[in-house]
Amino acid sequence: MDEKDVYILAIESSCDETAAAVVKNGREVLSNIISSQIDIHTLYGGVVPEIASRKHVENINPVVREALKEAQMTLNDVDAIAVTYGPGLVGALLVGVAHAKAMAFAADKPLVGVHHIEGHISANYIANPSLEPPFICLVVSGGHTHLVVVNDYGEYEVIGKTRDDAAGEAFDKVARAIELGYPGGPKIDKLAKEGNPDAIKFPKAVVNNAPLDFSFSGIKSAVLNYINGCKMKGEEYSRADIAASFQKSVVDVLTEHAITACKERGIKKLAIAGGVSANSAIRASLEQASKKNNIEFFCPPIVLCTDNAAMIGSAAYYEYIKGVRHGYDLNAIPNLKLGEK
Ligand code: KG4
Ligand code: ZN
Repeated sequence: MDEKDVYILAIESSCDETAAAVVKNGREVLSNIISSQIDIHTLYGGVVPEIASRKHVENINPVVREALKEAQMTLNDVDAIAVTYGPGLVGALLVGVAHAKAMAFAADKPLVGVHHIEGHISANYIANPSLEPPFICLVVSGGHTHLVVVNDYGEYEVIGKTRDDAAGEAFDKVARAIELGYPGGPKIDKLAKEGNPDAIKFPKAVVNNAPLDFSFSGIKSAVLNYINGCKMKGEEYSRADIAASFQKSVVDVLTEHAITACKERGIKKLAIAGGVSANSAIRASLEQASKKNNIEFFCPPIVLCTDNAAMIGSAAYYEYIKGVRHGYDLNAIPNLKLGEK
């Protein structure tokens, strides 16, 4: 172990994944353990916050142990403990925050609280060793749809966002409308491959006079109206065509706005982050549009797109080297804004 190397043990528990990772110098993942609760929440058609908290309590010790074991380290070997403290489900966040505080206290290690979305953005640093700010990042998750200028490490400027539903929320709601169940995003992604993306014209998720903002609640209503219309007329409808057409309308708008943001700011680097960036059509569309516009495109592997702790360890590293430390009064902040410390 080099004296100057920084090893961070990171914890993530903001939603339905209990995760822990050890990350070296912000970019090298030594372990990345994720315990998903998807099976249990599937029974209820979505994440049940109370169940999520209880599952985190059960899973957090074994997950953290496994992360240290796989990295061949003990708690004493790490330089700091990092944890997501918002945004997310309050009960779920509290499990990770309390655990991180207890470990930091017991081992006398510094504590670094991390913003969940900052983590998603930082997944790009792990996947692309050469990526450095400034760049534009399209953040698309279950709770967020943001266009962000990453001016420097840990310095974010939100230049576009959704006015209502997040992109992931739209995927999940439309999946429910066509009875695909939870989690909706991956299921729509799969079914859309069998459908015609030009079969149905759904409205574009745009906002008048705000070229970088989004509005996804209209598409979900349009899908429901389309299904009701078919049912009333006694017509058959193709769920694959609905999935493909809905996905195309979302992907087109996300792509257009991301490219507009790069052009407006004169930035030639575009990254994506968040669970929806696992979507195969979004990845393909952004890659193609970036190439056409001479923009370098960065996209993390799927395992780093959805919730994980390696991304938290990466974000924490850049805070740690700036000297950011949190006290034992660190609390969960369910609606923490990006850029707020
Ligand atoms: O980032 P994430 O794992 O959790 C949050 O921080 O919200 O994102 C979860 C969201 C869900 O809405 C899920 O349906 C969506 O990401 N998602 C996808 C795909 N995989 C996950 N959406 C579209 N296509 C996918 N392949
Ligand atoms: Zn997330």
